[in-house]
Amino acid sequence: MEPSTPVPPRVRADSPNPITDLHRYREHHGRATADPDGFWLAETRLHVAWQTLPTVGLQGSFHDIAEGPLSWFADGTLNVTESCLDRHLEDRGDKVAILWEGDGGEVVRLTYRALHEQVCRAASALRDLGLRKGERAIIYMGMVPEAAIAMLACARIGAIHSVVFGGFSAEALRDRIRDCGAEILITQDQALRGGKTIPLKQTADAACEGESHIKKVLVLQRTGVKVGWTPGRDVWWHDVVPTADRDHEAVPCDAEHPLFVLYTSGSTGKPKGLVHTCGGYLTWAQYTHRTVFDLREEDVYACVADVGWITGHTYIVYGPLANGATTLMFESTPTYPDAGRYWDMVERHKITILYTAPTAIRALAAQGDAFVTQYDRSSLRVLGTVGEPINPDAWRWYFDVVGEGRCTIVDTWWQTETGGICISPIAPATPTRAGSATLPLPGILPALRTPEGRVVYGPGQGLLCIEQPWPGQARTVWGDHERFVGTYFGMFPGVYFTGDGCRRDTDGYYWITGRVDDVLNVAGHRMGTAEFESALVSADQVAEAAVVGYPHPIKGQGVYAYVVLQPGAPATDDLDAQLNACCRAAIGAHARIDRVQLVPGLPKTRSGKVMRRILRKIAEGQGDQLGDVSTLADPSVVDAIRAGWVDE
Ligand code: PRX
Repeated sequence: MEPSTPVPPRVRADSPNPITDLHRYREHHGRATADPDGFWLAETRLHVAWQTLPTVGLQGSFHDIAEGPLSWFADGTLNVTESCLDRHLEDRGDKVAILWEGDGGEVVRLTYRALHEQVCRAASALRDLGLRKGERAIIYMGMVPEAAIAMLACARIGAIHSVVFGGFSAEALRDRIRDCGAEILITQDQALRGGKTIPLKQTADAACEGESHIKKVLVLQRTGVKVGWTPGRDVWWHDVVPTADRDHEAVPCDAEHPLFVLYTSGSTGKPKGLVHTCGGYLTWAQYTHRTVFDLREEDVYACVADVGWITGHTYIVYGPLANGATTLMFESTPTYPDAGRYWDMVERHKITILYTAPTAIRALAAQGDAFVTQYDRSSLRVLGTVGEPINPDAWRWYFDVVGEGRCTIVDTWWQTETGGICISPIAPATPTRAGSATLPLPGILPALRTPEGRVVYGPGQGLLCIEQPWPGQARTVWGDHERFVGTYFGMFPGVYFTGDGCRRDTDGYYWITGRVDDVLNVAGHRMGTAEFESALVSADQVAEAAVVGYPHPIKGQGVYAYVVLQPGAPATDDLDAQLNACCRAAIGAHARIDRVQLVPGLPKTRSGKVMRRILRKIAEGQGDQLGDVSTLADPSVVDAIRAGWVDE
């Protein structure tokens, strides 16, 4: 192991949110735009526990991104766990770091001191299992404290974690293990969620079958069910972690050392492993968490996402812990045992900040107000939403019913790629409007462009781009920088293209309209149409398939599949179930098709390209507004699809 430089972590993370009104917001935004290096160096030197303080800010630009990843704070060294743990020990050792609520309502409180100890022991155990700086470990777990402990333990070693959401299938897990070349897999016997068990170890075993790099599987016992066991490879968490060395010095890492790889879906091909690096990511995570939510020392902060997604990384683990906050980890669902679960937790834990998704808000609103109003919500101060556009009705219900008209709603727009929040109200400063993510955070320069690349000035609609680098953004795609450049900078050279459409109003407020590419956002889960299509054509009876999204009242988007059967293949009664089984096997349990329509063919141009625009319109119930279809090779296909063609 490399020796740790003996500079003690000395920065306290207790400065309050500096942005308290709109005037200050504008002043900060102006400074971060005019002098990004000066602004972010000052921010990071004050709020991140560096071992060697950085003296340089940004190196590289969006214009020369093809030459290599850009960097922030390149001459600094740090270990992110010192910001998240060690520096809090003196003043916050007895403060609750992780407040865990289990599926059945059991509660565990881990203080900063206890969390520090557990992370050190887990890091020692992982080191003893052979994990080294720069190597990858896959974390395939449910919402247990050990998931956060495993992430931080990897970070303490300088190893790179890749958390795979527990809903993903063996095939999806195998793809991710292979892509990042992981040798260690951390999982649990079963996860618990909403009263159901999820057989994580069984799925992990299936993912490791055949040719696999995985040398060790570290298994947490959650339910105690009997699981398959491969001697020599499998190791129980309880056999090695509690007895591993209590001291584990944090391994120094360069600012641009990768902290994690997180896979996310795009328009084409397999999911991409986005790489986030230590210095810039942590700077962004703590800054945005502290300012947007207006964090205070006594807050009980609850982000009810899953650590398998970027929201869990940045706003359950890294941002809150870097800020010395009490962060809730929630194992269950909003409707278990009933639709009062969140509000019951708010009352019992006196939660002050709640961060959830529009899908959950819509689902709960549909259950009626009584589930909410029977609990005391007077502790709440800030209510966050993320993951998809929030419709004004859901926003108002959140504001009026949940927040009793007292709380600030922060509608936070961002992406796996951006590392943290980019467009959002800052709780005390920004006047809010139902359905708008409002204004860009300091350091974020959004621009709307036409498909031809023309910049839209003032009020208008366009493709959402960001014009200037910021510290928290992903640096590259694991093992494929060319793909990173092509995906995000190919559309408009020199500018980051988000994949979202957006409107800007006369006050400069941003209203995200949703994805403009072939990415679906179903109940806040991001999935590629291409992933569904490749799963569908793997079914023997399917010749071709095209998948599009359509508006869904609760999930935001539903999944609509147009399927062409092989000649002579029968449309059996259980076809939908069979097709869904293919998607579940290829992607995971969260990949469900809502509607299947059998069609005689897909609308294609003469060069063979599927015209998705037409399929989207028909799925949205606007089949009578298709516009020009004269470029189709066979326009009669459209009439058959519109007529709801089914060949029995
Ligand atoms: O379409 C946008 C939508 O979610 C996409 C990013 O998904 P993912 O990488 O999974 O990250 C989700 C959590 C940050 C975006 O391209 N999205 C996210 N937040 C919002 C949103 N759409 C509208 N309003 C939001 N607040």
